[in-house]
Amino acid sequence: MTTILKTDIKELKKLFSGKVRDIYEVSKNQWLLVTTDRISAFDVVFSEGIPMKGAYLNRVANHWFKTVTTIKTHIISYTPELELPFLKNYPGIPERSILVQKMNRLPVECIVRGYLFGSVWDEYQKHSTASGVLLPTGIPLAGEIPEPIFTPSGKAEAGHDINITEKEFFDTVGHEIGTQIKKVSLELYTQARNRMKEKGVILADTKFEFGLDENGSLVLVDEILTPDSSRYWVGSSYSVGKSPESFDKQFVRDYLLSINWNKQPPAPPLPPDIIENTRAKYEQIATIVESLV
Ligand SMILES: Nc1ncnc2c1ncn2[C@@H]1O[C@H](COP(=O)(O)OP(=O)(O)OP(=O)(O)O)[C@@H](O)[C@H]1O
Ligand SMILES: [Mg+2]
Repeated sequence: MTTILKTDIKELKKLFSGKVRDIYEVSKNQWLLVTTDRISAFDVVFSEGIPMKGAYLNRVANHWFKTVTTIKTHIISYTPELELPFLKNYPGIPERSILVQKMNRLPVECIVRGYLFGSVWDEYQKHSTASGVLLPTGIPLAGEIPEPIFTPSGKAEAGHDINITEKEFFDTVGHEIGTQIKKVSLELYTQARNRMKEKGVILADTKFEFGLDENGSLVLVDEILTPDSSRYWVGSSYSVGKSPESFDKQFVRDYLLSINWNKQPPAPPLPPDIIENTRAKYEQIATIVESLV
């Protein structure tokens, strides 16, 4: 099984590389987004990849993008090798790539939470709030929140993202666009959560990114509802009060905690069994999501 860590498509100009994606210019308004097999944890990218991870992520995001009807998405083509036949000369690239419309990305991460976990848990214990949203008392760790909540964060150019209040969110994107983002984010999360329940999987939370097109209309961009941007939990072993088994980089995070890594670069090497277990999880969630009709 191949692991693609770096890409070099000679026919296109590489614009930049994110932690996971390599972005190429196709034309003024079109980008090729290549999801590599790189993996990051605590915002540090590892020197090993997870075999096929980019292809699995693409399968998950593409499935969900195809279900979106209430908002325009950035997708131009799920099969960019048809528009760009030279991609066939790059093994592994077509299944990791999509052709998208370049948008003016809004500098916010639009997070929706249906369960109480992760960065907001400490805050909730102290103040009964999650990112400033007041919640009923008595919700246990990993417990369901009565109604999904919208907890946007600021998108830092480099490094960690910063929590912002709802007011700061609306000040950043404007009232009209902000209202639309909040509504769409809550709807997309709730629909996906309900669909995944049928499969015995809990979609605990997720993060969306949006941009504006040339007319100023709101567009859904980046990846959606993937295990890199969401928490998917195994329903059968889920119980409140403990860290749930999940379909993402949990093996990597647990391993890093077990060796007491200080979360500063350079990243430590990942043992082969951690890599394989993580790969299998990503494959499983891709298969489950694709089994939704
Ligand atoms: N259609 C689009 N128009 C403009 N920018 C986009 C579009 N789709 C995705 N992006 C941006 O492209 C980048 C994708 O790369 P990747 O996911 O590797 O980034 P990342 O390391 O997560 O970076 P970031 O911290 O910016 O999220 C992200 O910065 C994302 O916001
Ligand atoms: Mg990203």
